[in-house]
Amino acid sequence: MAGNIKVVVCKDADEVARKCAGMFVEQVRNKPTSVLGFATGSTPEKSYAQIAKLAKAEKVSFAKVTSFNLDEYWGLDGDHDQSYRYFMNEQLFKHIDIRPWNTNVLNGKARFPEIECRAYEEKIVSVGGVDLWVLGIGNNGHIAFNEPGSPVDSRTRLVSLTQSTIDANSDGRFFKVAAEVPRCALSTGIGTIRDARKLVLLATGAKKADAIAKAVDGAFTPDVPASLLQDHPDCTFILDQEAASKLKK
Ligand code: GLP
Repeated sequence: MAGNIKVVVCKDADEVARKCAGMFVEQVRNKPTSVLGFATGSTPEKSYAQIAKLAKAEKVSFAKVTSFNLDEYWGLDGDHDQSYRYFMNEQLFKHIDIRPWNTNVLNGKARFPEIECRAYEEKIVSVGGVDLWVLGIGNNGHIAFNEPGSPVDSRTRLVSLTQSTIDANSDGRFFKVAAEVPRCALSTGIGTIRDARKLVLLATGAKKADAIAKAVDGAFTPDVPASLLQDHPDCTFILDQEAASKLKK
């Protein structure tokens, strides 16, 4: 196995979600003022439901937590039902006691994207950096909206989406047709993500198996953005058996 990535293989997506939720609730129990990083996409949905359930059952409060999301579609405002702000409100924030004003999602309608992106980076630094950030992975190995070719030291910026990402996000789970998917997004960079003290990447299903194998066992290369996590000091991939099926034994 290349690099430091720790791999945990679970029997199914429900176990992936329970493990991820356990890490988040534990993090907040140990440090109530934690700075958390969240992701969107269908993979973390089950984990968010589990976090809400577990936090309630174990009486762990998120009232002092600050959060940052990975990315947002360019051109969508937070009320749009496909915006990542809307997703987070629906999937997680309204089910826990996190304070809305402590949740940060890039503004897809910002008038000046460079100012929005710089302010986001500065805000992460001003609260002491991210303690634990959960990531998904695209079929082409992207993390956040850092498409293949994104530099290891990239920061929050306006990016273009590849056709493969546009197609993946318009298969009916989110957008219905490719024409509706914004062509650009505001995305934290690989450098922004690598600055988090702890990273956990979730992947489920056979469609992710190639990207996971390349990220874990392949070269450290911007061609596979998730491989740029190989030298992170504390990065765990939590996978179901299908997503792990092409890993070297
Ligand atoms: C989008 C998001 C990524 C996410 C990816 C995979 O492109 N920007 O952060 O990891 O989708 O999503 P899914 O979990 O739906 O496969």
